Amino acid sequence: MSKTNKKNIGVPTIGVFDSGFGGLTVLRALLKQMPHARYAFLGDTARLPYGSKSRRTIAKYAAESAQFLVHEQGTEYLVIACNTASALALDAIQEAVPVPVLGVIEPGAQAARAASKTGDVLVIATDATVQSHAYSNACRVLGLHGIERACPLLVPLVEEGWIADSPGHSVTAEVTSQVIRIYLDQLQADAKAENLHPDTLVLGCTHYPLLRPLIEKVLIQSGPSGIRVIDSAEATAAEAARLFTLQNNPQRCHPERSRFSGGAKDLLLTEAESDFIPNIRCFATDSVEKFERLGSRFLGCPTGPVELVDLGG
Ligand code: DGL
Repeated sequence: MSKTNKKNIGVPTIGVFDSGFGGLTVLRALLKQMPHARYAFLGDTARLPYGSKSRRTIAKYAAESAQFLVHEQGTEYLVIACNTASALALDAIQEAVPVPVLGVIEPGAQAARAASKTGDVLVIATDATVQSHAYSNACRVLGLHGIERACPLLVPLVEEGWIADSPGHSVTAEVTSQVIRIYLDQLQADAKAENLHPDTLVLGCTHYPLLRPLIEKVLIQSGPSGIRVIDSAEATAAEAARLFTLQNNPQRCHPERSRFSGGAKDLLLTEAESDFIPNIRCFATDSVEKFERLGSRFLGCPTGPVELVDLGG
């Protein structure tokens, strides 16, 4: 996956960080927006999950991971694919590295604002993300009302692969659907108690885009809610591409942030490049075999060989 294409020469290396390999859903979305960029992806699989840890620990782990990508892999831009790290450690990461850093929370909230007519937005995420209220705060700044719910059972279900609603997998998918139904019913009850009328659901965790078909099915089965599902991975990739374009226009951006010579459109595929191989290097702090095996599910294509790194305890 690290084959150099002619168009890769002189293009930025974008570091993408997650607590595990769920953040490959963000890389997948980035590849759609900017396939010609070089990517270095780090999954801190040795210290996963972040979603049940304290702010102090998440900030320490996330800053160390960001430093690895910037100082050891030379990435010039960082996308924090992990919702939990974005919610609790964006400041710590920005202090730890001298490159522009984009998290997933604000793009997710912006996409919710674009989608919502009622201004009432449901958010599902990890425990730590929900306790930080990062999404509801980002929603409030945009004039929305965010109602959050932690769904701690969903990450392990995705990691187990209980996600496919296909022949041979219908029993496990039904278990996952039941869990989703319980969480969404609780969230809808919270919204009703506050007399809110949510029409948008933000998937505030790297793993949840893989549950999107099941989530949408549960929403349909629960009645005509008209709720639109927002994937913060797609919204973040679109925002990263927008920032590259801005950075290409020196009059519209801050000098410190103008690190790239090319804008997002220089990183797009042409029609003649259907056999294009993305330039990705993947690193993990543990379980590289599992990363290679399951990562393709998140990335939508093979990850290639995953390199083991040691960031300490
Ligand atoms: N990457 C985390 C997130 O997006 C989910 C997995 C974890 O808890 O570390 O919040």
